Amino acid sequence: MKKQQARTPRHPQRTAASRGATLATIVAGLMAAGNASAQAPAAPAANVEAGKARAQAVCAACHGANGVSIADNIPNLAGQRTAYIEGQLRAFKAGTRKAASMNAIAAQLAPADITDVAAYFSSLVPTNVAAKSEQLPQLLKTQVTFPEGYRSTFRMYQTVNRADINQVRYLYANATAFEAAREGKPLPAGSVLMLEQWAAKLDGDKKPIVGPGGFYVPDRLVNYAVMSSGAGWGAGFPEMLRNGDWNYAVFAPDMKIRTGVNQADCLACHKPLDKANYLFSNEPLMTAAKR
Ligand code: HEC
Ligand code: HEC
Repeated sequence: MKKQQARTPRHPQRTAASRGATLATIVAGLMAAGNASAQAPAAPAANVEAGKARAQAVCAACHGANGVSIADNIPNLAGQRTAYIEGQLRAFKAGTRKAASMNAIAAQLAPADITDVAAYFSSLVPTNVAAKSEQLPQLLKTQVTFPEGYRSTFRMYQTVNRADINQVRYLYANATAFEAAREGKPLPAGSVLMLEQWAAKLDGDKKPIVGPGGFYVPDRLVNYAVMSSGAGWGAGFPEMLRNGDWNYAVFAPDMKIRTGVNQADCLACHKPLDKANYLFSNEPLMTAAKR
């Protein structure tokens, strides 16, 4: 009897302790399940206001401030599930989901930023799918003008075959860019880069015809893409998109500017080249400048 009494109080105690442990395990398990791919065990609460501010400054350029996108090839985010948005942003950041602009943007988002923007977009009410947002005026505005006479005043420094779109492209830079490149200095205000986009001549099987040097034979000029830099030209862009003081523009074969070009596209894709003058062709330019 005495033995049993001594044992009895220990029994419920042990039960309570093991019950507590079980509960803790379940709670931890539930949290882990809810945050399947989260790195930190206890994610901080989302700051919807911070998410809204970032969305309005940056994401709005493509997805619309209210999560209704500006174009058919950009997804709406209004009312999308929080976990889905977070998951996609982590995948863009890690590079496991590939889309050049989103990879560049997500790379700049800290884990807390991802939580915040996801909470903001999922809090919005989705509208009908036909609706579109306006482009941000500050990203439509460009200082770039067509560099008249560039064929005689600029130097061509690279030719690029684009097998994915059957184009051949010729890259030119002006004297200001070349001088800086020769001295290994950052390209200053006044630098202009010209990219001619030509549809390649196709053979009977619709394959590009290859000419001298392994480059596609040009058939028809499609576009001129130009980037120029000027003092203060980047000031109106959100930091996450800004490329120093570079502005971008596209011109039609008649040299008239193509309106409605969203500079956010150009800026986002060129942004990761921040250590290379924002140029994909920085190396070829440097090499050509030293020749
Ligand atoms: C330059 C335009 C641009 C900007 C700016 C931009 N996005 Fe995107 N975003 C896109 C495009 C285009 C896609 C579709 C990518 C693809 O083809 O996979 C996309 C896809 C996404 C997706 C995946 C949606 C889905 O349905 O799978 C999420 C989430 C997203 N963006 C969040 C953001 C957030 C948050 C910001 C701001 C911090 C932002 N984006 C800024 C262009 C942009
Ligand atoms: C999806 C990514 C992407 C987007 C969006 C993009 N570019 Fe580029 N850009 C490139 C790549 C890659 C090159 C290198 C040449 C090539 O492969 O065509 C390049 C090269 C250039 C060059 C020659 C200088 C350099 O960086 O090497 C200019 C000028 C240029 N782009 C202008 C533009 C303009 C204007 C826009 C917006 C309308 C734009 N780009 C949007 C990827 C992009």
